[in-house]
Amino acid sequence: MLKTTSVPMMAHNDDDEWSPKNYDKHASFVPALGAPVLRLLDPQSHERILDLGAGNGVLTIELEKHCSSVVAVDASAVMIQAARRIGCQDARVVDGHDLIEDTDLATGQFDAVFSNAALHWMKKDPERVIQGVNKCLKPEGRFVAECGGYMDLCEVRSGLHMALKKRGVKNPDEYDPWFFPGVNTYTRMLEQNGFRVEYIELIPRLTKLNSDIAGFIETFGFSFMKPFEGDEAMQKEIRDEVQSNLKFSQDEGTWSVMFVRLRFKAVKIN
Ligand SMILES: C[S@@+](CC[C@H](N)C(=O)[O-])C[C@H]1O[C@@H](n2cnc3c(N)ncnc32)[C@H](O)[C@@H]1O
Repeated sequence: MLKTTSVPMMAHNDDDEWSPKNYDKHASFVPALGAPVLRLLDPQSHERILDLGAGNGVLTIELEKHCSSVVAVDASAVMIQAARRIGCQDARVVDGHDLIEDTDLATGQFDAVFSNAALHWMKKDPERVIQGVNKCLKPEGRFVAECGGYMDLCEVRSGLHMALKKRGVKNPDEYDPWFFPGVNTYTRMLEQNGFRVEYIELIPRLTKLNSDIAGFIETFGFSFMKPFEGDEAMQKEIRDEVQSNLKFSQDEGTWSVMFVRLRFKAVKIN
């Protein structure tokens, strides 16, 4: 059952909850599916690029092969350690919301900002993140990214909300870490913050998981477990319950999730 009677407001700082080990085990498909975004970025050999929400650095290393230098930033210290371990040249712990004040990065020196599967985690103030990206870019610099978009992970997300409500959590939104914008919302945000949008699209993508729904929730759904902190048995019960209610996502032992990605290319105009 719920550990506390009053439900605290979501802190939105879940850095400690990221696990490079879980990420490798359950989510190696995330960087592996980043190739189309890298192609959209089209990095050039002379360019200096910022990788925002770089995670364990697998895509950053790929990016480093194609440009002059990459700075990888991520809010999670353990993910940044993992990125350094695999050889990322310049990997720093920076929250996307703080980019705008970063005296080293927000100086208009980058040719492009790249981001894969990370912007939807920066829910506290997505426009502030865009403003920070803008300050990092040179005039005409590119912001090329893919993140979760409108209706992403609907089944798993609804399952988690229902599981929390069933256990007395009145407003599961407080524990939901994701912001999944539609094309109109994100276009407006980009345009109001100094960008011209050259391409933006929602892309539904049925994605085979490395393991199963429970493993996916363990890796990405940790915020939903906050009301049950320390109660490992309850957390497992929730993961198993959501998975069991999603039994139709299984095909001959392979589990899938319906992702909807928002992919875009925007150019800094002011
Ligand atoms: C799904 S992983 C994606 C990592 C990597 N880009 C990839 O493609 O594998 C999301 C990453 O976003 C990072 N993240 C979440 N909130 C963040 C924030 N506010 N600022 C910077 N990074 C954040 C997480 O720490 C995590 O490493």
